[in-house]
Amino acid sequence: MCGIIGYIGGQPALEVALAGLRRLEYRGYDSAGVAVVVDGGLRTLRRAGKLANLEKALAESETSPRGTVGIGHTRWATHGGPTDTNAHPHTDCTGAIAVIHNGIIENFASLRAGLERDGHELASETDTEIVAHLLEDELAAVSAPDGTAGAGAAGAARTAEGAETAGASRLTEAFRRVCRRLEGAFTLVVVHRDHPDVVVGARRNSPLVVGVGADETFLASDVAAFIAHTRSAVEIGQDQIVEARRDGVTITDFAGNPVEGRPYHVDWDASAAEKGGHPYFMLKEISEQPTALADTLRGRLSNDAEIVLDEERLSAQDFRDVDKVFIVACGTAYHAGLIAKYAIEHWTRLPCEVEMASEFRYRDPVLDRSTLVVAISQSGETLDTLMAVKHAREQKARVLAICNTNGSTIPRESDAVLYTRCGPEVGVASTKTFLGQVAACLLVGLYLAQVRGVLYGDEVARYVEKLQAMPALVRQTLATIEPMRALARTLADARAVLFLGRHVGYPVALEGALKLKELAYMHAEGFPAGELKHGPIALVEEGLPVVVVVPSPRGRSHLHSKIVSNIQEVRARGARTIVIAEEGDTVVEPYAEHLIRVPATPTLFAPLVTTLPLQVFACELALARGLDVDQPRNLAKSVTVE
Ligand code: F6R
Repeated sequence: MCGIIGYIGGQPALEVALAGLRRLEYRGYDSAGVAVVVDGGLRTLRRAGKLANLEKALAESETSPRGTVGIGHTRWATHGGPTDTNAHPHTDCTGAIAVIHNGIIENFASLRAGLERDGHELASETDTEIVAHLLEDELAAVSAPDGTAGAGAAGAARTAEGAETAGASRLTEAFRRVCRRLEGAFTLVVVHRDHPDVVVGARRNSPLVVGVGADETFLASDVAAFIAHTRSAVEIGQDQIVEARRDGVTITDFAGNPVEGRPYHVDWDASAAEKGGHPYFMLKEISEQPTALADTLRGRLSNDAEIVLDEERLSAQDFRDVDKVFIVACGTAYHAGLIAKYAIEHWTRLPCEVEMASEFRYRDPVLDRSTLVVAISQSGETLDTLMAVKHAREQKARVLAICNTNGSTIPRESDAVLYTRCGPEVGVASTKTFLGQVAACLLVGLYLAQVRGVLYGDEVARYVEKLQAMPALVRQTLATIEPMRALARTLADARAVLFLGRHVGYPVALEGALKLKELAYMHAEGFPAGELKHGPIALVEEGLPVVVVVPSPRGRSHLHSKIVSNIQEVRARGARTIVIAEEGDTVVEPYAEHLIRVPATPTLFAPLVTTLPLQVFACELALARGLDVDQPRNLAKSVTVE
């Protein structure tokens, strides 16, 4: 939530910031703003609404700010509505400092009261603005001749070579003092009109990465912001401050102790974050699913038929000691976890619970060293999931992250990680990363079964082989999906849609309903088909579209015949039945008003194809309603507040 970019280098900072914000807009689009250091001054411009409003205001302004140091922000509102005044950057009383922020400062009310008592006048309703004012005071304190400056960098500043360096260090020390007073989650980036040689950033429980270019440095919430300029990045750890200069960065903790950032190379290029000829990122990302799945599965089986994770800070013995599994995740990732439960319990015979991460730590779950917690997160920054991970580790559980974002917080806070290699996902609604998450979960299930001796090498290899055939089936499904598109366009006026499934088709139904809610703003619910008659069937009325995800008639034929009965039950009450069924399943034909075919797959792998028509359904229906599928209202891609 909220996209942040800071720049210092030789290029016009305004252009760099705006280009970065265009790539970060998926993180929040309630308002946007920039601040540029210009000739001993600071030019700030902010506008409510999408980035286009800010760009229009800049185009209409007489002079656009020229300078090579600046910051930019795109907002997802938390404290205070999406107005010009609440938009970032925020400034102090003197107008010397500009601050941008992602997260929530939980003790802001008491800090604000203190500032107001001391005569500060705050213009906005945000929690962010207090940071500019606190920094103003702390900077005055560290600069005071009576030595109110603290130890650490401020002390060093007094003996530093030049006045500029001393000034910058004082700014950093003052900022460090401010950060120590803040509670909650924050990424903060600051520029100061009198310190044009630095941009200073800080992070706690919220993302911040450094981009290292040739004679230029970037601070951003996501590498997408600077990928057009450099693919060299540095991870900033928890509770750290980064002082960025043109020629590099200095990183310290909040106490002023030097720390090393972890450098890494971004393994995708700028074109991966472009629409590539598609009108929407979501359409592009739906079409990328065969590749995303194939990349996630590539090289996961060693020559000894062992499953290969990415970073394993857990031994095979640790996995053997596991006696129960918890999966924690939110939204779409949670649905991937629900699918994983079927596979993990089936293959490993271990109990597996799936929890919404936002609830996990508050209900005091029973965890110990033998518990494996699998945390699934596309962004690796979802605060609910991060807090669940921290809680699990405090209780001594082992944590394995499944994540799509290299260098993000959740993998770093976990004991092991399996990366989904789906490339950047820009559309706010998850599509390709859902498939990656399901595949990664299946690999974890196979790995656990293997190390625990429930499945043997050749059995695991056979499953992996079948899994590796799935990208081709995903491609085939997408190639024949036009009937679903055409159908969705006819349903733009529907008031509600129900989704039904059984077994792994149930989480798919939940995912179909979530996609429709978030993209088309329609009332949509997913139910286990068997649960319908215990209440929800009362919702069924003449003409209600009901989408049914039908299990294969092979293998689990008892489930198939049960769901056929459920289709008949809703049909008898006037529902329009939209049936997703395997090729060759003739039994469902008489009961399907609309029949969408998917290729036959092994039962546990079916969600990798049955989800696709539901993604397309939601996307197309939203487009038919004239909505922006990349940036649905009220949402943001990376949810870094609780
Ligand atoms: C829905 C969607 C969200 C995310 C959820 C978790 O399309 O994208 O429900 O799945 O916010 O996000 P990550 O996976 O980044 O933790």
